[in-house]
Amino acid sequence: MKFITIEEAMKKNGNVAIRGWVYRERKSNKFVFIILRDHTDIIQCVVKKDNVSDELWKKAEKITIESSVEIFGKIKKDKRAPTGYEIDVDKMNIIQIAEPFPITKDKSTEYLLEKRHLWLRSRKMIAVMKVRDTVFNSIREFFRKKGFYEFHAPIIVPRIAEEGPTLFEVKYFDKKAYLTQTWQLYAEAAIFALEKIFTISPSFRAEKSKTPRHLTEYWHTEVEAAWYKLDDIMDIAEDLVKYVIKNVIKKNKKEIEYLKSDINYFKKIIGKKWKRMTYDEALKILNKYMKVEYGKDLRTIEEAKLTSLFDTPIFVTGYPKDIMAFYKPKDPKNPKVALCFDLLVKNVGELIGGSERDLSIEEMKKALKKSGEKLDAYEFYFDTRRYGAVPHSGFGLGTERLIMWICNLDHIRGAIPFPRTINRYEP
Ligand code: 4AD
Ligand code: MG
Repeated sequence: MKFITIEEAMKKNGNVAIRGWVYRERKSNKFVFIILRDHTDIIQCVVKKDNVSDELWKKAEKITIESSVEIFGKIKKDKRAPTGYEIDVDKMNIIQIAEPFPITKDKSTEYLLEKRHLWLRSRKMIAVMKVRDTVFNSIREFFRKKGFYEFHAPIIVPRIAEEGPTLFEVKYFDKKAYLTQTWQLYAEAAIFALEKIFTISPSFRAEKSKTPRHLTEYWHTEVEAAWYKLDDIMDIAEDLVKYVIKNVIKKNKKEIEYLKSDINYFKKIIGKKWKRMTYDEALKILNKYMKVEYGKDLRTIEEAKLTSLFDTPIFVTGYPKDIMAFYKPKDPKNPKVALCFDLLVKNVGELIGGSERDLSIEEMKKALKKSGEKLDAYEFYFDTRRYGAVPHSGFGLGTERLIMWICNLDHIRGAIPFPRTINRYEP
């Protein structure tokens, strides 16, 4: 008999063959209940002493949690079973009897991180990993439909692109190199060849603070497009996030419900135009509730307050030029601010950061000098402004932050199978 998945079995009547791992087991002197798990779902299977051979009964009595088994039996609806179906077991092959599984109820978060390789099998992790799969797929699908090419930048780099304090150093033979924080500087070279490009690639930040939204290694969705102005790239950002949400709602309804994420909220926001405001406007609003000084980046509590006041995510544009990365240009209409944006979402804060790119080598040199950078390392980058410079824009989206938001997770490490944070790079 051909093995089918649990999901397929639940659409059938009569005899089925399924295989997987024991998710729960309960034994009495007449019955052994096995909840079996495969990648699609869980299902209750029952071995009845009176109906099966002695040999099968003896096997069933030995079953432990996470043992791997093949089960043959008759499926029927049963309201009392956890997923509404039950299999009456006729035959069972034990592939391996598992040793006592170390993960039991009420283990601490730290313990579950320690045993992450085993915790991956939890229903929660499975649900998140399925959403993650949809998110990655949807991002690629979106950009293909819009005519963007996938472009890859190096991971080992010789210079800073964002902030110095979050650089990871690596020994590069007898020299010093870094792990990339962003593909951006390379992407800006590539738009002259491909014009519209994207990537999903690891970025690294030596984040020294413990926060629920920072990883040291995360998957960075980045976009760069020639001829695009700030409004054009914000439209791409809004359409991208809406496209991903729409797909997750379509493909992962079961997972979203399991994770208790507010599906109605997400359905609502994909039908609306998202709020856009300037940094100045944001400060005016925030100052009704708390004191926020002009000239500083918005902090987590400020982002949280702002997002709580509106019924869609919020684009904040025009952050103070002085505190922005060197490549973000002055707004010619208001030189105190940069032509940039952050997209803020509920429970997470900054999901996306993007901008137009400065075309003035002199302005960029000034900004780099101010933060103490050596200009030599940027010569290759300045070349992109020397040979047919064109206006262009781009952004970076923290893919785990997007997953954290959609999956209603209280910490970003839940959004990635093997999280890397300030005090953990194992297993
Ligand atoms: O705002 P950031 O630092 O912008 C850049 O790196 C630009 N060069 C991107 C570009 O324009 N191509 O990072 C972009 C996004 C943030 O909005 C955030 O969602 C995510 O990357 N991010 C992190 N996600 C998880 N852990 C961290 N430590 C992150 N740091 C940034
Ligand atoms: Mg940012």
